Amino acid sequence: MQDHDETVSNTSTNPCFTQILVERLSRRRLLQGGLVAAGLAMLHGPLVRGRGQHAEAASTLFSFQGVPVSKADTVVVPPGYTAEVLFAWGDPVSDGPAFKTDASNTAAEQAQQAGMHHDGLYFFSLPLGSQNSARGLLAINHEYTDDGLLHVGGMEPWTVEKVAKSQAAHGVSVIEVTLAEGRWTVVRPSQYARRITAQTPMRFTGPAAGHALLKTAADPTGTLVLGTMNNCANGATPWGTYLTCEENFNGYFVNPTGDVEGVSDSDQKLGILKGQTRYGITKTGFGYRWHEHDQRFDAARHPNEPNRFGWVVEIDPFDPRSEPVKHTALGRLKHEGAIVTLSADNRVVVYMGDDERNEYIYKFVSEGTYAPNDRAANLRLLERGTLYVARFNADGQGEWLALVHGQHGLDATAGFPSQAEVVMQARAAADKVGATKMDRPEWIAVHPTTREVYCSLTNNSNRGTDKGPAVDPANPRAKNVYGHIMRWREESGDPKANKFQWDIFVLCGDPAMAEADKHGTIKGDIFGSPDGLWFDTRGVLWIQTDVSTSVLNKGDYANMGNNQMLAADPATGDIRRFLTGPNGCELTGVVTTPDGKTMFANIQHPGETASERSDPNNPTAVSAWPDGQARPRSATVVIRKTDGGVVGS
Ligand code: FEO
Ligand code: CA
Ligand code: CA
Repeated sequence: MQDHDETVSNTSTNPCFTQILVERLSRRRLLQGGLVAAGLAMLHGPLVRGRGQHAEAASTLFSFQGVPVSKADTVVVPPGYTAEVLFAWGDPVSDGPAFKTDASNTAAEQAQQAGMHHDGLYFFSLPLGSQNSARGLLAINHEYTDDGLLHVGGMEPWTVEKVAKSQAAHGVSVIEVTLAEGRWTVVRPSQYARRITAQTPMRFTGPAAGHALLKTAADPTGTLVLGTMNNCANGATPWGTYLTCEENFNGYFVNPTGDVEGVSDSDQKLGILKGQTRYGITKTGFGYRWHEHDQRFDAARHPNEPNRFGWVVEIDPFDPRSEPVKHTALGRLKHEGAIVTLSADNRVVVYMGDDERNEYIYKFVSEGTYAPNDRAANLRLLERGTLYVARFNADGQGEWLALVHGQHGLDATAGFPSQAEVVMQARAAADKVGATKMDRPEWIAVHPTTREVYCSLTNNSNRGTDKGPAVDPANPRAKNVYGHIMRWREESGDPKANKFQWDIFVLCGDPAMAEADKHGTIKGDIFGSPDGLWFDTRGVLWIQTDVSTSVLNKGDYANMGNNQMLAADPATGDIRRFLTGPNGCELTGVVTTPDGKTMFANIQHPGETASERSDPNNPTAVSAWPDGQARPRSATVVIRKTDGGVVGS
């Protein structure tokens, strides 16, 4: 993701504060005793026992030879494995125009090619409902753009054509892929291939659809919106649709007046920040400059346009003519991912993180139940249900607090006249009900058999400082440099439960660091800033890192090399480095075919500079991956075992 330290981090007050203050004191005692790991074991004994750093048995889940840290401008995988580029930025999704290495493809051409900055991805076997591991569809997010690389001359001059190209390089690709003679290729032409961009028409469902705060000059109905952007992590449904998540949407908007909507005096008295401020819309945005040629990104002129982003979008990859839908029932956040599982009674449960410092972890439980033979009905399951936010109590118990109009004080006097406002201002609603502020919740993954849920908390420079909340048992380190991965088990093993037990799976870190709280609890290879998380069907937890390019290979991260992907065994706690990426990249997005013999993973933003915008006169300054000499390109890579075995075994 983009690393924008200047963006808002949640500083709103929250009923949990006093409680956390008390807990901080007991936490401090543990830290002073140098007993971080032991303290967690005492706090959360039942869930920790026999696992993590406390277990002695070595993992039998994987036997590959771990790879060392790397600063090489290439993808490194273990001996006996291959990694090949399948689909790089600019490659045509079907039989469209070829990539031009000088970045001179037009906006119209870009709209038929892979976007930039590949993020979450998922493999759907063809035909729908099969377990085919030799032919399928890949849905791939394109999170953001480096406009220094995207255009001839970078952002100078800045033109309407360049804005259109930048918008066309965002969104999602759907491509058809096939395996023949041991090699995966993109099928061209393909009847399924499609690009969804920041201009693709889509509609709203759920409690906020048609609400006054979603209406704009271009859409007086409040039901139709153009496009999706900053598509970060993802999810997939049992009925074969793709969920793409809008993360840092705020960065595309500017509000030059600085007179942002939604922060009324009464809101401020309540200690609740709402509206554009709560979601980090500023005078300057992240420098995309779309508003200069596309007025709807001027949030002063079009104050409701930002309300139309920050949603989970459902796409049917099997029907290229289908209209994507934004499901407002799942809340408006900086959505990282939307991992789907089913409750004991077949309700659809979606776990979601809101990736910003001190934001929350959410869960949606559908009202209706999944019916394996009624796809039309399943396609409407995410329209109605209950949104919850997580509170992690100090005793290792947790609870899901419903964000429902009329409950927990979410009423008109608190600024929530209806459920539409609750979902549109989900962050403020979560503040109000006293959820636990987390260290940047990223991906969430559900273990295929134990149903335990894992969540990466990537880092939080404000934790325990005067700019952020105090440490608490779920976020136990001040300035949390390296992040951690936590997990919980729902009551009775049922994902729709209102209560859960939680513990910390691993505190990331580097034992070579002088400070004790930077050592972490990793049993195996070191890493930090965990982001992508995904369970394969054998129960291997794949971990991908997103160390910001501003700190990569420096300071606290001096010993960790380029961003990487690791395999973890949840039962033993063993963690082994499986892949290292090229210079300036992050690893994000991983999935395998049903047989586990092919892994698809994304290399995002190779060559990224600390400023996140490359010098157009020196595009290969940091990396020339994968082409070797030309400008770097994000890409999906195919990882296989040369003996044809299961990847990671
Ligand atoms: Fe797009 Fe939170 O990473
Ligand atoms: Ca990230
Ligand atoms: Ca991410």
